[in-house]
Amino acid sequence: MQHLADLDAKKLYNDLVAAINDHRPKQIVILTHVPPFKEACMRQGKISDDDWLPYFSSKATGDVLLQVAKANSAIKFLVLCGHTHSEALYQSSNNLVIKAGKAEYFQPEVQEIIYV
Ligand SMILES: [Fe+2]
Repeated sequence: MQHLADLDAKKLYNDLVAAINDHRPKQIVILTHVPPFKEACMRQGKISDDDWLPYFSSKATGDVLLQVAKANSAIKFLVLCGHTHSEALYQSSNNLVIKAGKAEYFQPEVQEIIYV
C-alpha cells in the first residue's frame, strides 16, 4: 500500500507541476479520496490515533501538497477528500486548505457549493 501511495503521490506531483506550467492558474482544486493530513482525519470529533492513521491518511500525498503549495505561494490550493466519513477543515498554510466531507452509507449529500 505504501508503494501505491508513493506512485499516486508522484503522479499528483507531476500533474500539479504540468498544470501550473501549462495554465498558470490562480487556484487549483484537488480531489482525493484519502485525506492527505492527519488533521483532516477526524472520527467522533477527534483526530484518529496513530494506530489508525496509516489506514485513514496519505502522508506521501500531504508531503507533495506541502512542497507544491510552498513553491507556488500565489496559487490557492483547495483539497477535497473523504474516506473517514467525518467532516474536517484544516488549513495547512496560507494557500493550502483541506476539507473532508462527512458521509453516511447510502445517503449521499452535497457538502457545499464552490464558486470559482
Ligand atoms: Fe474510503
